[in-house]
Amino acid sequence: MSRPRLSERILAARVQRTMQGRVRQRRTVTRRDGVRYEVDGRWLTGFAGNDYLGLAQHFAVVDALQAAASRDGAGSTASHLVCGHHSAHEALEREIASWLGAPRALLFGSGYLANLAVMQSLLGEDDVSVQDRLNHASLIDAARLAGCKLRRYPHADAEGALRQLRTVPDGAAMLVTDGVFSMDGDLAPLRELSLVARVQQALMYIDDAHGVGVVGPEGRGSVAEAALDPGGVLQLATLGKALGGYGAVVLGSEDIIGHLAETARPYIYTTALPPAQAAASLAAVKLARRDHWRREKLQNLIAHFRHSALFRDLQLLPSTTPIQPLMCGDEKRALALATALEAQGFWIPAIRPPTVPDGRARLRITLSSLHTQAEVDALIDALSWARDAVEMGYGTAVA
Ligand SMILES: Cc1ncc(COP(=O)(O)O)c(C=O)c1O
Repeated sequence: MSRPRLSERILAARVQRTMQGRVRQRRTVTRRDGVRYEVDGRWLTGFAGNDYLGLAQHFAVVDALQAAASRDGAGSTASHLVCGHHSAHEALEREIASWLGAPRALLFGSGYLANLAVMQSLLGEDDVSVQDRLNHASLIDAARLAGCKLRRYPHADAEGALRQLRTVPDGAAMLVTDGVFSMDGDLAPLRELSLVARVQQALMYIDDAHGVGVVGPEGRGSVAEAALDPGGVLQLATLGKALGGYGAVVLGSEDIIGHLAETARPYIYTTALPPAQAAASLAAVKLARRDHWRREKLQNLIAHFRHSALFRDLQLLPSTTPIQPLMCGDEKRALALATALEAQGFWIPAIRPPTVPDGRARLRITLSSLHTQAEVDALIDALSWARDAVEMGYGTAVA
């Protein structure tokens, strides 16, 4: 018997990634102050994080975390169904359900786990998960774990979704889309998709990781923006993006959420989120509900950024959200731009395949209500300079 050697496989994969310029490295942040990061001993202005409302270091959020940790400790000690379910989890679920107008919410350790849970517990091998081609990787992985059929339709194409649903007429069906697309920043056509779902008797699942807190009336997300009934769909809100913490919540009808709580393996077989983390997120949700000025400021910064980029002929994707990607095409160009920007004090790592499709590498620029207009202006200057430098060949030297 001669089995393939894992060490050889790992080496070959590494060599291939090196040849393709796809080696990935972590950078270590030693300190953070709002949108400023200390990395390798140097302070950089970040335009890449997901702290859209500036809540991750808000004193009320940190205070809630510290107070709960000193009372309840660092961890939950067990899974929810054993003895890890805490009143802080319960309070957070209630607050988010009331904010988003959904009958019930269920808290998960992360958005990734929540997506695995939804599909694993609701779909089986005779069923189908119909998904937008640009959906987040965790949704694709979720369908694979569920063992159901996976059909993908062209980006934001409701007719494409209908065609795919028709290919599997007999099994149960779930129509799955990002609410705000994580790498492109655009909104899914939820009204059209919901009509398709209704006609095809499919359950709609909206992963609104990047929408909740930011879009829609009172920041209630893409479902509210599209005026859909939150009780008639299933949706995901993450706590690690606009809410500045960690974890995620699935919202939907009593029946479905109750079923998830009792049957979803990524819910049952994992330790519950630390209660202190839930307390911090509760404080963040209250701020996100109350502080409309954060969203207004963010919208003004987005408009200012897009207007200035247009003026300088910088090619952005059409997006009204804080995710404002600058397309680079070639991944080497994306890396060269990121390096040139860092030389000028900005931190925007290049996003390359397989995170985005081949030939669609980009700088995923994100804005936060913590940015100032002066920082946005400085970024626009730096982007124009970096583009010109890379075009003149300087970029390959800095990369
Ligand atoms: C659209 C989308 N869904 C789900 C997730 C996963 O969420 P979490 O980071 O909480 O695991 C992400 C995170 O990047 C995301 O962008």
